[in-house]
Amino acid sequence: MRTAFVAGNWKMNGNTDSINELMDGLVNSINSSSVEVLVCPPSVYISQVKSLTESSKISVGAQNVSENANGAFTGEVSLSMLNDLGCEYVILGHSERRSLYAETDQLVAAKFIAAVESGVKPILCVGETLDERENGETLKVVSRQLNAVIDAAGIEKFADAVVAYEPVWAIGTGKTATPEQAQEVHAAIRAEIAKSDAATAEKTRILYGGSVNAANAAELFANADVDGGLVGGASLKVNDFIAICQAAD
Ligand code: G3P
Repeated sequence: MRTAFVAGNWKMNGNTDSINELMDGLVNSINSSSVEVLVCPPSVYISQVKSLTESSKISVGAQNVSENANGAFTGEVSLSMLNDLGCEYVILGHSERRSLYAETDQLVAAKFIAAVESGVKPILCVGETLDERENGETLKVVSRQLNAVIDAAGIEKFADAVVAYEPVWAIGTGKTATPEQAQEVHAAIRAEIAKSDAATAEKTRILYGGSVNAANAAELFANADVDGGLVGGASLKVNDFIAICQAAD
């Protein structure tokens, strides 16, 4: 039985005051022991959020990290820094990193390996563009992205990993994948992992991301291979994020 998981990807949003207000609402309302809840602020606010969640069930993660150890990498954040700040997870391979910052499958795999070796659990994002879906290439793309990491890291490094299926055409658009579309790809992802190790496939949480909101979360999460959500815009709205976490319970 996989524990449900809801993660909030705040992207490049928030300030000290808005984060205090959002977290004040979340920590007083999110306390289920049957749903794992994570928030991923911009790295400059991780310390603030960590201090606000100390007495709560909410974990804190990062949205990206360098594959390199500390050193002459101006502007970067290292895994040792995320560990120092108490980050439990890091989002890797988000489509915005792949498209806007030229992150390749190989770079994502390097970051994945470094994260696992440092004890920070990866949330590996995969997903197709609208053109790829319309060309019938969805499963081919998602499998390529997934296997680039499995082949480089080895399936044993997937032990604590989370996978997020985020169709690019659903991110920030309000155009959510249907439950059937999500289930089809999630099942294919699980089957692809099972080719390497059946037990790992069974235990891996696969989250759906792409315009998840309070109204559609329950229907999405009701599917056998949808173990929760990776939530963008709605994670910045306290009542919406609470409702999405409740829908996963
Ligand atoms: O990582 C989650 C994000 O890409 C989804 O964004 O705003 O469509 O929920 P949104």
